[in-house]
Amino acid sequence: MEVVKSVKDMAELSKKLKKEGKTVGFVPTMGYLHQGHLSLVECSKKDNDITVLSIFVNPIQFGKNEDLDRYPRDIERDIQICQSHGVDYLFVPSVEDMYPEGYSTYVVVEGITDVLCGAYREGHFKGVATVVNKLFNIVKPDRAYFGKKDYQQYLVIKKMVEDLNMDIQVVGCPIVREKDGLAMSSRNKYLSPEERQSAVSISQALFKAKELFEKGETNPQTLTEVIKETIQSQPYVKEIQYIQIVDPKTLKTKEKAEKGDIIAVAVFVGNTRLIDNIEL
Ligand code: PAJ
Repeated sequence: MEVVKSVKDMAELSKKLKKEGKTVGFVPTMGYLHQGHLSLVECSKKDNDITVLSIFVNPIQFGKNEDLDRYPRDIERDIQICQSHGVDYLFVPSVEDMYPEGYSTYVVVEGITDVLCGAYREGHFKGVATVVNKLFNIVKPDRAYFGKKDYQQYLVIKKMVEDLNMDIQVVGCPIVREKDGLAMSSRNKYLSPEERQSAVSISQALFKAKELFEKGETNPQTLTEVIKETIQSQPYVKEIQYIQIVDPKTLKTKEKAEKGDIIAVAVFVGNTRLIDNIEL
């Protein structure tokens, strides 16, 4: 595996791979890798000749009061993990290289970014769409892999690729969970053992709602109430930001839950903001 540190080197390498007729799969990440990230690597390896994984903690997708400064990082560990999981190229650009002084171009996906996380994290998806667009231009992948853990992000990237006629296949991969159901996330590292215990209620609540739906309950209010009660009963839950049942394509809230809809939640456990979702 080769570690590529500069934008220029990565761009040249991608050109070379293209010329050689190799198909390139791309997994963009912010590092502190876990099994969720690695499931995307696995998918990419199955579909492509070459797999590129990027690690870049993208400052422009963090709000002023968010966790940019304390976002977990361990590049040595991440290099080891990538090496042992068959990543071909690990791209780790610097902030200065990605956003040199005078940088002034941004990508805005309208509509689907106004709801769910977009309603609470101003500018977040503008930061995500911009960095992913830049990374796509540098890595020039044939396919790019995103987790449905960040369902809204996955849709935003799909929409950007469609609207801007980018010749890239965006592949959505299933949520990887811990044994007890908690969705894997780099941010789980922030949780104290007690908070970790409370956090399990998020996935348990989603599973419970799905079970009720499968037994015939289609009223979104009833389903969200069950989720709210389950999560709120936990001592370390500070705030439930949203619980919403939405259409999987438009993210519009539903009057009646249907198969294929997404129940999405964002919850503060202590000071850690966790998101999760389930497909009905
Ligand atoms: P990050 O949070 O590091 O996640 C990188 C990718 O891994 C995303 O596509 C995310 O959805 C996926 N992922 C994370 N946890 C997962 C899980 N438990 N199961 C399945 N997939 C999971 O998302 C970002 O970074 C950034 O916003 C990025 C797209 C890299 C742009 O900066």
